[in-house]
Amino acid sequence: MQDHELLEKIAQTLQNADLKTGKRLIKHKSAAQLGEILELEKPSEQDWDQLFVWTQQYLDYSPDTNHSGFANRMWTGANMPSILGEIIAAFSNTSSCTFESAPVATLMENYMLGQMLDIVGFKNGEGQMTTGSSNANMIAMMVARNQALKNAKQQGLFSSQPLRAFVSCDAHYSLDKAANILGIGTDNLIKVPTDNNGEMDILALEKAIQNTQNSGGIAFFVCATLGTTVRGAYDNIEKLIQLKNKHNFWLHGDGAWGGAAIMSATLKGKFLSAIEQLDSFTMDFHKMLGSNLMCNFLLLKQQNLLSCTCADGDNSYIFRDKIADSGANSLQCGRRVDSLKWFLDWKFYGRQGFADRVEGYYKLVKFAENFIIANDELEMVVERSSFNLCFRFKAPNANVFNQKLRCKLLQSEQALFALAYIQKKLVFRLLVCNINLDKVKLTELLNRLIKTGKALQNNA
Ligand SMILES: Cc1ncc(COP(=O)(O)O)c(C=O)c1O
Repeated sequence: MQDHELLEKIAQTLQNADLKTGKRLIKHKSAAQLGEILELEKPSEQDWDQLFVWTQQYLDYSPDTNHSGFANRMWTGANMPSILGEIIAAFSNTSSCTFESAPVATLMENYMLGQMLDIVGFKNGEGQMTTGSSNANMIAMMVARNQALKNAKQQGLFSSQPLRAFVSCDAHYSLDKAANILGIGTDNLIKVPTDNNGEMDILALEKAIQNTQNSGGIAFFVCATLGTTVRGAYDNIEKLIQLKNKHNFWLHGDGAWGGAAIMSATLKGKFLSAIEQLDSFTMDFHKMLGSNLMCNFLLLKQQNLLSCTCADGDNSYIFRDKIADSGANSLQCGRRVDSLKWFLDWKFYGRQGFADRVEGYYKLVKFAENFIIANDELEMVVERSSFNLCFRFKAPNANVFNQKLRCKLLQSEQALFALAYIQKKLVFRLLVCNINLDKVKLTELLNRLIKTGKALQNNA
């Protein structure tokens, strides 16, 4: 097939797809059924027609993440400007490692990082795009480790005092992975209890830090979760800063999900007050703000730490201008061009557009909370902290029942909900991050859940 024919066929395939129409959520099949349909062993050398059969099947059997019934993850269908950026990035296929190979992308990344530094309030900071908040959390911990032990990079941790990192017990699992990868050890990632609101208990944190110091260890890193994965709780930055001033640890903010509140002056004041005093901060544009996956940045308050932490070995074959080459300070060599989609989204919506979006989500989530509270069949399992609702259908043996209800909603292709545990109670975790959602669609979604739950009860 000629290139121009291929382009036309791609456009046609996308146009014919049900994506973004809201017509259907998913065609549900089990893995075994899908395996039979896909016939992945079929030979297809030089066979474009067969490639388009698989492409069509991919589209047919993937959930439409734009659909209002897709309430499963922290992201939904992506913003159109970022989709434009992704398509162009795929066609142009270059790496953002050097200015030479990605000149425009490099300037766009620098521009966007500058915008974010300004919004966060890091006046002399630096940053980089990473592959997601998991990776950004690890890099932040790595910078903190190398600041606490100046020879760690060259000598490792073999002869050092034990290092301890601290997170709330509701922090994301990527921090455990970071402790593993960086040689800290997961036993030295101390999980601090949370209070009733899901925020890290500051007194318990201070006690844990003192225990570490009394036993000859170094309390080097605290991660404030700014929007916990399940409950949406924000650790209190102001109180953590007071503790940091006393105990001199690195204070990182994991805003993968809730960091998006920074776009709105009102919500920033409510949830992220004193954010400019953190040592580092990460957030995902591909979650609440809707950019195409992956789109993340990590910011540090101080300059020149990324280069002395991340740059290693003889890279002279590739980097000759370490200021212009954004890959020089990255842990990767090849870097996907993520800045184009980020820049296009930013230019299209602007800060005000994103502020309106998060404020709109905040209102919608309060609306859904009131709906749940007013409904006899449903109950909130914990109070709402911010953007997350954790609720369940009231039933005897509630964990088993809510698991069944979730499966039924999926198998009947009505909704794809997320489940999580809070203190051994299985809950629906509802996150509002879909620009196609409004009060009417949200009510329909919750009513579908209630109707299906009642039918399940009646059939039991
Ligand atoms: C609080 C928090 N931190 C980090 C992450 C990981 O983000 P990513 O998927 O970008 O690696 C998540 C993902 O859900 C999260 O909720």
